[in-house]
Amino acid sequence: MRWPGLWGPKGRIWFFVDNATTGVNAVLGSLELQPGDEILITNLAYGAVRNAAAFAAGRRGARLVTLELPFPGAEPADYLNRLAKALTPRTRLAILDHITSETALVLPLAEMAACCRAAGVPVLADGAHAPGAIDLNIPSLGVDYYTGNLHKWALAPKGCGFLWAAPERQQGLHPPVISWGLGQGFVQEFDWVGTKDPTPFLAAPAALELMQAWGLDAMQAYNHHLAWQAAVWLTARWGLEPPAPRAMLGCMATLPLPASLGSTREDAVRLQYALLYEHRIEAPILCLGGRLWVRISAQVYNALEDVEALAQAIESFG
Ligand SMILES: Cc1ncc(COP(=O)(O)O)c(C=O)c1O
Repeated sequence: MRWPGLWGPKGRIWFFVDNATTGVNAVLGSLELQPGDEILITNLAYGAVRNAAAFAAGRRGARLVTLELPFPGAEPADYLNRLAKALTPRTRLAILDHITSETALVLPLAEMAACCRAAGVPVLADGAHAPGAIDLNIPSLGVDYYTGNLHKWALAPKGCGFLWAAPERQQGLHPPVISWGLGQGFVQEFDWVGTKDPTPFLAAPAALELMQAWGLDAMQAYNHHLAWQAAVWLTARWGLEPPAPRAMLGCMATLPLPASLGSTREDAVRLQYALLYEHRIEAPILCLGGRLWVRISAQVYNALEDVEALAQAIESFG
């Protein structure tokens, strides 16, 4: 599988895992934590990843420390300042999203990783949403571990993630399921984790080749442009503001909804189902900070007409 940076001078430095959750668990389960150590995670992290980190910390008497990153009002420089202040001599790992899940922000990952490196803290990057969505060259980010999904924006079938580890981090890294490869090296250990269906992994190269044939850069540029156009247009239509600068968005955007649509989790669930069943539009509706938000995703088969259809459907409820 050809993807910039997945191959080192001595061969493969990544392997398939079923999904990003598995990649995160592999790294967390391999950490040698002591009581009083800290794992840093942000308030924007994916819930399952937070659970895995809380579990790994809790079983060793370590602490999970949450770095609060404002949303809306996201600003890269502010995020960096907050990160620098949250790192302590006890921080053993910082878990940083490349693209956040609910809030759909592209974090300044390379700068954040540099900040962690300066403090001697390894970084596990959660790139579940990144491959195929944004330009991705993993070694250039300066992170220690990177896990991503190919079944989101890279068009592979479900159950197709990967975990990459910097050469100096490969020793001592184990899959959550120990099997025949134990002690035979990093790649062997992860390549065979018991009998499973490898179909999604076998299909991944074809998915990547398809995107390359279509023009990956052009796809990403189109999707980003459409997501930003939609963010500006929808928020202006509702008298609101985009929650982050353009540089912090990829192919998705999480946008505030008019207050008349409700403010509770129940309102969010109701609206999401109504959009799906009454208008055949699938978009997550979130309840964040006492208001409702919609997360839009732009793919090459979408156009501004879809954004207009979403706006009209949403407005029909309030
Ligand atoms: C940021 C982030 N991390 C992790 C995950 C988990 O991905 P998976 O369920 O494929 O393991 C997701 C899923 O949406 C995500 O958005």
